[in-house]
Amino acid sequence: MLGAAPADSVAVGQARRLRGELHLPGDKSISHRALLLALLAAGEGRITGASDGRDVRATADVATALGAHLTRSGDDPRAVDYVVVSPGRAALSEPTGILDCRNSGTTFRLAAGIIAGLPGFAVLDGDESLRRRPMGRVAAPLVAMGASVAGRAGTTLAPFAVTGSIALRGIEHATSIPSAQVKSCVLLAGLAATGSTSVRESTFTRDHTERMLRARGVAVRTEHLDDGGAVHTVVGPTTVRALDERVPGDISGAAFWMVAAAIHPDADLLLRNVGTNPTRRGIIDLLRRMGAEIEERPVGTGGSMVSGEPSADLAVRSSTLHGIDVDPGEVAGAIDEIPILCLAAAVASGRSRIRGVGELRHKESDRVAGIVAGLAALGARVRADGDDIEIEGGRELRGAPVASLDDHRLAMTFAVAGLVAEGTTLVGQPASADISYPGFFDELERVRA
Ligand code: S3P
Repeated sequence: MLGAAPADSVAVGQARRLRGELHLPGDKSISHRALLLALLAAGEGRITGASDGRDVRATADVATALGAHLTRSGDDPRAVDYVVVSPGRAALSEPTGILDCRNSGTTFRLAAGIIAGLPGFAVLDGDESLRRRPMGRVAAPLVAMGASVAGRAGTTLAPFAVTGSIALRGIEHATSIPSAQVKSCVLLAGLAATGSTSVRESTFTRDHTERMLRARGVAVRTEHLDDGGAVHTVVGPTTVRALDERVPGDISGAAFWMVAAAIHPDADLLLRNVGTNPTRRGIIDLLRRMGAEIEERPVGTGGSMVSGEPSADLAVRSSTLHGIDVDPGEVAGAIDEIPILCLAAAVASGRSRIRGVGELRHKESDRVAGIVAGLAALGARVRADGDDIEIEGGRELRGAPVASLDDHRLAMTFAVAGLVAEGTTLVGQPASADISYPGFFDELERVRA
């Protein structure tokens, strides 16, 4: 039950049972890219089922500021439609004001890659959280390509002032940490650069940008390396074709319900049309390894997913979970799901060790610190050990006030914990859920009813 709670928190009580069918918000990563690729393509592109979370709204505003005309329709905040009409990359405009990416690292990093290839000046900024996040990782390759980038702290922190160039040069870039945002930034700049631009990554990260570019007529070559990494190459300058896009449900949002159902003693949830891209589905496979009963029923054969993004309905039931070891190489495929996976591990029997999660310290908050403090407050045995998180499962959780550090994924993790914890859990800063999952707390009410 949701009830009265101290200012800026919401009370979540233990649920007797969880039942229902859920339609997820549009996938956030795909929604960002659908808008930005529509901006780069001359003509009209329709996007169906995009997320209406605050992050994707930030990208929509950036696309508008750079010269696209967007019409948004629909009143279901989980999934809205856009018609994007753009003059195409060669005719985009220099923005008159600051591009405010708010809380969205994806908006900032992908937009930086696009702006680097435009003949003009732009300032990219964001909220307090975004201004703490590492941005040198995109500045360095863009400067090497010929753009001019200046920012705080030796051009490692936002805001960034970017002067683009129509004479970008292709580069070979190796990402220092696995990051789809950095890979996408460099590949998007590569569309405008002369010659070949390649990005080498040590772990294969989410490949939406590559898939969606290919669907829009750009030849992206991907070479798989023996060590699990990959090299992705585009040859520029090249244009992007306008294309209609249908966005599948967000697996990162679905993850909260997968864990809720798996850890609750009386649960049966059906999650509709969840994106199951192989580079994103890590949470399904990790939860199954823990013993979760997740039945996957593929939806069509790609259906009308024009970019070939697979999706499935997922039926998840109460399960008996046991702890697992997660290797560093498995983290990228579930990077945003590690907080909710930690909750599953806290309830599971036995020990779990999730290794190589240092990058979580650089998300919307320090998620390692947030998850350790929050789960500990609920009575779990969890500790950080360098870049690893170690959890001794099997403790009964009990409700308590929990700080979510204004981080959407922490707020939703602790809300799910509240469904199984004894008593009442006070989840701090619940409005942050709107970043990726508008209506999350309404759904929480509905499935427990
Ligand atoms: C994203 C990539 C991931 C993820 C983020 C969205 C994307 O970040 O954490 O929420 O859409 O490319 P990194 O690639 O920087 O790890």
